[in-house]
Amino acid sequence: MSAEPDFDALFAAASAVQRRAYAPYSRFRVGAALLADDGAVYAGCNVENAAYPVGTCAEAGAIAAMIGAGAKAIRAVLVFGEGPELVTPCGACRQRIREFAMPETPIVIAGPEGIRARFTLDALLPASFGPANLPR
Ligand code: THU
Repeated sequence: MSAEPDFDALFAAASAVQRRAYAPYSRFRVGAALLADDGAVYAGCNVENAAYPVGTCAEAGAIAAMIGAGAKAIRAVLVFGEGPELVTPCGACRQRIREFAMPETPIVIAGPEGIRARFTLDALLPASFGPANLPR
């Protein structure tokens, strides 16, 4: 059994980067933090665009930072957002996480007051399609 991820560190990283999100259109700022297989935490925020569909989610930014640093796998995810609803990853980001995570990888949802909910990747994206579906 691997040790429980340090969710306090993920919360600190996600809440810090959320404040730097570029979200002038939705005014909905999101931060995401990943614990990677190298033991480091990688964070990203949403970056919107005047051409709306070009905007990117916080999770996509965090994954790009992880891959750019040379890490290979996601061990845990924390998403930080405000408002009364749980800010869970969108469908596309569930698939982005799927590429680098395991079915049991925790995806934790947080708000300003702290952790609100805990899921696994498999709970959010059941019976998913992934790298093993393709011949290599
Ligand atoms: N957003 C994220 O960055 N991550 C999520 O998990 C949910 C939604 C962003 C996309 C867009 O910039 C804004 O939140 C409103 O949808």
